[in-house]
Amino acid sequence: MRLTSTTDAPSATTADTIVVGVFEGEDVAHDVEGGALGALLERGEAKRSFRHVAVAHAAGRRWLLVGLGKREAFDAERARLVAVSALARANELGTTSLCWEFPHHVSGAVAGGLVGGTLLADYRFERYKNLKDDEPTRIEELILSAHDELGPAVALAEVLATAQNAARDLQNQPSNDLTPTALADRARELAAEIDGLEVEVEGREQIVARGMGAFACVAQGSDEEPALIVLRWNPPGAAADAEPLGLVGKAVTFDTGGISIKPSAGMEGMKFDMSGGAAVLEATGAIARLGLAVPVIAVIGSTDNMPSGRAVKPGDIVRAMDGTSIEVNNTDAEGRLVLSDCILHARALGAARLVDVATLTGGVVTALGSVYAGVMSNDDDWCAAVVAAGERAGELAWRLPLHERYAEDVKGVYADLTNTGRSRKASPIMGGEFLHHFAGDTPWAHLDIAGMSDDAGLPYASSGGTGWGVRLLVELATALAADR
Ligand code: BES
Ligand code: MN
Ligand code: ZN
Repeated sequence: MRLTSTTDAPSATTADTIVVGVFEGEDVAHDVEGGALGALLERGEAKRSFRHVAVAHAAGRRWLLVGLGKREAFDAERARLVAVSALARANELGTTSLCWEFPHHVSGAVAGGLVGGTLLADYRFERYKNLKDDEPTRIEELILSAHDELGPAVALAEVLATAQNAARDLQNQPSNDLTPTALADRARELAAEIDGLEVEVEGREQIVARGMGAFACVAQGSDEEPALIVLRWNPPGAAADAEPLGLVGKAVTFDTGGISIKPSAGMEGMKFDMSGGAAVLEATGAIARLGLAVPVIAVIGSTDNMPSGRAVKPGDIVRAMDGTSIEVNNTDAEGRLVLSDCILHARALGAARLVDVATLTGGVVTALGSVYAGVMSNDDDWCAAVVAAGERAGELAWRLPLHERYAEDVKGVYADLTNTGRSRKASPIMGGEFLHHFAGDTPWAHLDIAGMSDDAGLPYASSGGTGWGVRLLVELATALAADR
């Protein structure tokens, strides 16, 4: 979809459909000649209630009158939601060029919400489908008409939504195509495109040679080559003492559970177990595209988790890069094994603050469902910064506690640690405490996104991968860049 912004009135554009929002207790700001829009409200066919949509034909075009609800409540997230409603109706009407009349006296973030909501809701994953000739037409152009110049806000929203949709493309691809190597190729593609973004990819041999025994033991059961992907964003003219933001992503391209194999029902959903890595990858690309003044070190650990004659077995003891010994008592708790070495690697490369993003536990889905991700942290200020960035971005995270007594339960009997808690209690926190050991005293936040990554029922990303985390991470980097 092509995007433009203009200070021309909507009726001066070439759009075939114009969207006009109306707040509760207010009237249409600019009615068409003859007052067709106001009349629609009077008749009760159009309503001011949030997300209500009515259609009028006037002055040779179609008009969508959309209820915006209460003005005080209207923010970027609610803008995304009204954009979804307007887009759905516009699509039913066969619109090809859509113009939003930007509501008066709202923040610039709302412009981002309208654009972002439209682009995210317009996303389709159809590359494996043979499309028929009678497929409905798609909207080709979105125009934002406002009294003030909205170009920069629109451009920012476009970068964000494009990155989020790119993450969804990676997520939705099945594991026979989206292998660790294919994910690494996407990282290379981004680095080739964007100045100042560098990539390094290492395979099985180097992962083993680095002493990443925890990562390597997950990969050893699969014939598919694993990938340790490191992306570095070095902003032009960054201060020598600028502290790099470390982003770490779990990218298990398929999680069978390994020898501790999962039940077959629904196992196809485990192609989404690379969602954290996809979010980190595309967020890093967006941060670089936006030229944000904060250095980023992104480390993505990618592998399949397969049962085989070579696979790691329950009870096996492996060593992470720092020498920590780990009893692998459940080969299905593989994400934390991959991440432990990636977190250590990010710290060794100089990350001063860390966020890891991972579909780590089913328990977090039980606890928080698909509204909030879980977040665990060793640093109150850093955790608050991550949560606040999520709130601004419309990606919510709820903090779960860490505690010494939880940490007791990831101590091993035969080794330093075990990768599963001793009971089934508090499984997201067991994952968090395991990772906490490797984060040490580097400010770190762990986002368990298992409930948010796919089929989360988000109105603007309703099925398949959601790209959750991209907006939060870019917002976090934006805040860090503004701080210097
Ligand atoms: N990838 C799964 C977590 C998951 C579950 C993501 C459901 C999305 C939906 C992870 O590797 C896993 O298997 N976790 C186990 C850990 C357990 C064995 C300690 C879990 O949560 O059951
Ligand atoms: Mn697993
Ligand atoms: Zn997994």
